[in-house]
Amino acid sequence: MNPLALDLNEKLSKSNPEIADMLSDLGKLMYYPKGILSQSAEAKSTKYNATIGMATYKDSKMYANTLNDVFTELTPDEIFPYTPPQGIESLRDLWQQKMLKENPDLDAGDMTRPILTNALTHGLSLVADMFVDSGDTLLLPTHNWGNYKLVYSARHSADIETYDIFDEDGHFTTDNFVDTLENYQKDKVVLILNYPNNPTGYTPTKEEVSTIVTAIKSLAERGTNVIALVDDAYYGLFYEDVYTQSLFTALTNLHLDNVLPIRLDGATKEFFAWGLRVGFISFGVTNEMTKHVLEEKVKGLIRSNISSGPMPSQSAVKYVLEHPETFESEIQHNIDTLQARYEITKSVVYDEQYAPYWQAYDFNSGYFMALKVHGVDPEQLRLRLIETYSIGIIALNDTDIRIAFSCVEKDDIPHVFDTIAKAISELQK
Ligand SMILES: Cc1ncc(COP(=O)(O)O)c(C=O)c1O
Repeated sequence: MNPLALDLNEKLSKSNPEIADMLSDLGKLMYYPKGILSQSAEAKSTKYNATIGMATYKDSKMYANTLNDVFTELTPDEIFPYTPPQGIESLRDLWQQKMLKENPDLDAGDMTRPILTNALTHGLSLVADMFVDSGDTLLLPTHNWGNYKLVYSARHSADIETYDIFDEDGHFTTDNFVDTLENYQKDKVVLILNYPNNPTGYTPTKEEVSTIVTAIKSLAERGTNVIALVDDAYYGLFYEDVYTQSLFTALTNLHLDNVLPIRLDGATKEFFAWGLRVGFISFGVTNEMTKHVLEEKVKGLIRSNISSGPMPSQSAVKYVLEHPETFESEIQHNIDTLQARYEITKSVVYDEQYAPYWQAYDFNSGYFMALKVHGVDPEQLRLRLIETYSIGIIALNDTDIRIAFSCVEKDDIPHVFDTIAKAISELQK
């Protein structure tokens, strides 16, 4: 059991043993992680808060005006009624059209219509409800989003195994993924493929995607059932020549019965609309009966937890998809703003003067980049940066920190990194 859960249980046994006795097994296992959210909370009043998974300007969030204005356009019927558990039907079609446009290699016949989720985390949990039993193996890169642990390990007792996606020099590598799959012996595996990656901001190139897909194909051909979950939270935020279709497309095109590609995507980051809670789950299957069964099961799962998603948010996303003229240019403007921040970040972090302080992991997309820091404890560094320099970063583990360049104005980026270097040099002494 996680030490945080144990601690909560002990406290409850002292404060109210009767309620401690009432807890279900899941209730006993549950805890609130001391991860990104609590580190973000501690950095809340910093001048440069590079902790959060949003995109911001100095004094406001980065959003699209059309989506902001939409709420005055909606009629009462687009706000107050229930939505069906699977979401507004026309929104599902619009989202599928968007997917097909962005993924020219994807055939509409090879996928289910996207089903609405209460954004991506809900989708992750639905996949776990549907496909993960206690003791099943979940294979993740060592650099992964912390919430996977809460969903898959705490809630579903999956066995999480990790492989490195970076070599000693911080360069992306598929070698360990390929090795891990080549040596994998069990008859079932769940993979989460999250690119652009949180926390490192890396998206594979075409060739790397081809290696990843080939490794999955060989594993499946040796008889392992593969649930290939593609977490596309940061889809579309690409700043270099990378594979810009979804890995879901490449995996769906394998057309293997024992590889089940599942895509989670949504408005959260793609439309700069974190709080709307509009996401989608799609399955890469061709058989019509299979599509029907999967959809019915997901609907049942949704009906039995949130019942249905929020109507105003779904209507808002539907509206902007139906009125793409200005909206698309607003989104592009935001992406361009992030791209400019990315370029500056790249020009700063690889500067030779910082070599004594860190090694950057390859990055080319998304909101974040990560550094392996030399000779200091990331947690100590994090606290010092908050207390002395009013800078918020995330301490990822014993060696790495994450910086959200999505939350630092372009002109402030050199100062932020220079100060991180200064704080490291002070702590190295
Ligand atoms: C990799 C990844 N997946 C999923 C999510 C969750 O997205 P949502 O807010 O839509 O639940 C996040 C959010 O930070 C993320 O970084």
